Amino acid sequence: MNKPVYPFREIGIGHYPMGNSPVTPEDSKRLPSMMNLNHAAPSSKLVYVHIPFCDSICPFCPYPKAFNEQTARQEYLTALFRELEMYGSAPQIRNCSVEALYIGGGTPSVLDEEEIMALFEQLQATLPMHNIEEITFEGNPASFTAAKLKLLFALGVNRISLGVQTFNDELGRRLGLLQTSEDSLRTIQQSREAGISNVSLDLMYNLPGQSMEEWLEDLEKVVELGIGHVTLFPLKIIPGFGLAKRIASGELPACGDLALEQQMYYEACRYLESQGYAVESTYDFVQPGGHHIYSRKHFDDHLDLLSVGLGAFGEVGGYAYQNVKLLPEYVKKITSGELPVSLGYQVTPEDLPNQFLAMGLRRTAIDRQLFRRKFGTFPEEHFPELFDKFVKAGLVEIREETIALTRFEGLFWGNNVCKEFCEEHIKIAFPK
Ligand SMILES: C[S@@+](CC[C@H](N)C(=O)[O-])C[C@H]1O[C@@H](n2cnc3c(N)ncnc32)[C@H](O)[C@@H]1O
Ligand code: SF4
Repeated sequence: MNKPVYPFREIGIGHYPMGNSPVTPEDSKRLPSMMNLNHAAPSSKLVYVHIPFCDSICPFCPYPKAFNEQTARQEYLTALFRELEMYGSAPQIRNCSVEALYIGGGTPSVLDEEEIMALFEQLQATLPMHNIEEITFEGNPASFTAAKLKLLFALGVNRISLGVQTFNDELGRRLGLLQTSEDSLRTIQQSREAGISNVSLDLMYNLPGQSMEEWLEDLEKVVELGIGHVTLFPLKIIPGFGLAKRIASGELPACGDLALEQQMYYEACRYLESQGYAVESTYDFVQPGGHHIYSRKHFDDHLDLLSVGLGAFGEVGGYAYQNVKLLPEYVKKITSGELPVSLGYQVTPEDLPNQFLAMGLRRTAIDRQLFRRKFGTFPEEHFPELFDKFVKAGLVEIREETIALTRFEGLFWGNNVCKEFCEEHIKIAFPK
């Protein structure tokens, strides 16, 4: 590997800008006006619902989550339903049209059938969902059952996102995964039998001691199973987390260096493309027909994102926000009649060119002419130094109609490129 362009790979941004200023109790009362919730003009929205519970807490995972326990789950769902009511009673939300819904986690599949039914009843009661194109329900192969999948299909779910991580049970054991490859295969089959053929898998790579052959075997399995959408995450070792400690103590083999991670990524791109997949984002690969509608409407079209639940982040009516991350605080705020927002930011017109590029390039290419129509100049004129650097480093290609991440160097560093358009506090690079 030549000298790397950046010292570390960044993790992908979920949204830009992000809420960043603490919301005081005083601000809290003004949240509905900051989000323009009383504004009744029709709008299109995306909705994200966070279900934080997991049956086991994986020793590598940084996402907002909590141990799955029935009392906590019931208390949480009561609060979540109340949060949905608070938004659903506002004119802006009553007059919107929800185009895609993502129920993510944590592990939504730990909900039991009664809870799943109650959640969908509440969503139908509080949000205008009549024009919805896609409903994704995320989960873990260890907690999906045939009955839950049939119920989800009946409730309108048309996409399942499964956290498989690897089909190799020895690597799964090193990661401390609950599920086995048998669970993953069973869930994929049961999902199809239930009528949900659109199944997306999460795989991680550069796992402790993982060889290139083992990585390619995981990818071959994806192809053999005819999976239409796959998300490939390079494993991030988070300092202080259980997995980092087990590697440091020698209990587990180390992960490969950046050069191996790059080789693994390039091999994945070549192999998946040879099997008919296209690159959909800096993480995602897709077969014809497997496109993720929510992702396109979020990163390309910048639809408002109404996010509810613990730690969820979104943007509504020009206000970017993030919910509190601790369960007791979440429940407490909602019980006292407040929206559970802890960080907020009023998006300004000056942020929009940055948002266009930071979010759009995550989907690997942006419409250069559309940028000029919106903001008056081409992206490379708006950010001359950055684009000069990217072009010199071979990370982006400027064409007449589009600006695209290069194959595969630009794709490999794509999340770093996106974050160059963001403020410093958004950049969270973990050393491997
Ligand atoms: C928010 S999790 C939800 C998936 C679901 N709970 C499950 O694990 O089955 C989304 C994905 O993030 C990825 N992920 C979690 N921790 C990671 C880490 N430290 N590095 C890279 N990817 C990670 C995993 O692939 C996981 O499936
Ligand atoms: S990877 Fe999934 S199951 Fe594991 S802790 Fe994270 S959210 Fe929970």
